[in-house]
Amino acid sequence: MSYSPGLKDIVAAETRLSSVDGEAGELVIAGYPLKEIAESARYEEMAHLLWHGTLPTAAVLDRFTGELAACRPLSGAILDSLGSAAKERRPVIDAVRAAVASLPTRDDASDARTLVAVLPSIVAAYWRFLHREEPVEPHPGLGHAANLLYMLTGEIPGDNGDGDGGSGDRGGDHVRALTTYLNTVVDHGMNASTFTARVIISTRSDFISAVTGAIGALKGPLHGGAPGPVLAMLEAIGDIDNAESYLRKILEANERLMGFGHAVYRVRDPRADVLSRAARSFFTQDHDLYALALHVEKTAIELLEEYKPGRRLQTNVEFYTALLLKGLGLHPDLFTPMFAIGRVAGWVAHCFEQRADDRLYRPESVYTGDDTSKWIPVNER
Ligand code: ACO
Repeated sequence: MSYSPGLKDIVAAETRLSSVDGEAGELVIAGYPLKEIAESARYEEMAHLLWHGTLPTAAVLDRFTGELAACRPLSGAILDSLGSAAKERRPVIDAVRAAVASLPTRDDASDARTLVAVLPSIVAAYWRFLHREEPVEPHPGLGHAANLLYMLTGEIPGDNGDGDGGSGDRGGDHVRALTTYLNTVVDHGMNASTFTARVIISTRSDFISAVTGAIGALKGPLHGGAPGPVLAMLEAIGDIDNAESYLRKILEANERLMGFGHAVYRVRDPRADVLSRAARSFFTQDHDLYALALHVEKTAIELLEEYKPGRRLQTNVEFYTALLLKGLGLHPDLFTPMFAIGRVAGWVAHCFEQRADDRLYRPESVYTGDDTSKWIPVNER
């Protein structure tokens, strides 16, 4: 047996859900190259594709959308606990993890629908509690992404009061951009949070536990916690002229540049292309932040090659996630919860796959301690 730190290069599962080619910079989701599907599909279609292996027909999509809508409202108990957490000003992702943990478990299929449907309701309700506003009930006529924006803001995206229920261009842009984001992060091979979910299911535990654990894994700054710091970095740089000296200082201190590097990609993360395209439309008037981001990206890549030659560190998904979510008007405290809202259909798909495989994860460890210690009673130590 050989030890592989971080399980690097160890194949831990077979999956039909996604393929990540780190050398070519390609991501395939259940048969579809990311670029082919992310900017067109509704999130409900992505979830169906991952869970069932095919895109739904219009009739099936209608039924599935209705099933999710039925799961969207939150129980009084969850609303109460979110309200209490808000009084303690707990971080959003911690409140979300706790609320997910408290969901009742039923059977796998209904737990799967509940998890996907209620995550936006939980995030939105908690956000409103934090800002001393009443939660907004989900809107029965809106889809997944539109409902998320509606429950956060209380306004139908794009509804300018002309009675058309929100088909205005701007609202459509917001819903499309948010959907593209959620689709882009829906699944990504054997990443840390997905692996966490699969390990939990491998013990024949339930989907609620698996997603609770996955949220815990996602929140770390090396995984889903990076886009908040990316935006903070861009805001701290503030001007193109400051970029090089700011980035150099971080690298001189041997710290990491957030939004760069990846465990698998050695070229630009293909998700960064999709998200930078989606983000661009939000910065037509306030072009400065987008232009600054392009400059910071270019400078960072050059400096990473200078400070870490040969490591092939490139832009990852989180860099343009920060811009897109900022463009959508979302606060950085919502960035990691948004990632969870996007990834949850993927986690659930892996839970189904792992359930079918039904094999316990139980790797080995190499003991590096002593084996000659003698017992000393507590009062003699
Ligand atoms: N900035 C500076 N140096 C870096 C960066 C970075 N962003 N990323 C890696 N390095 C360095 C490492 O320090 C290491 O240096 P060394 O060889 O001198 O020891 C070398 O590059 C190789 O790095 P690894 O740690 O082997 O890279 P790994 O593949 O394990 O890590 C990770 C990937 C965690 C994403 C890393 O690149 C990182 O910390 N990036 C910044 C945080 C970030 O953007 N996270 C989001 C990732 S995307 C996602 O999870 C959805």
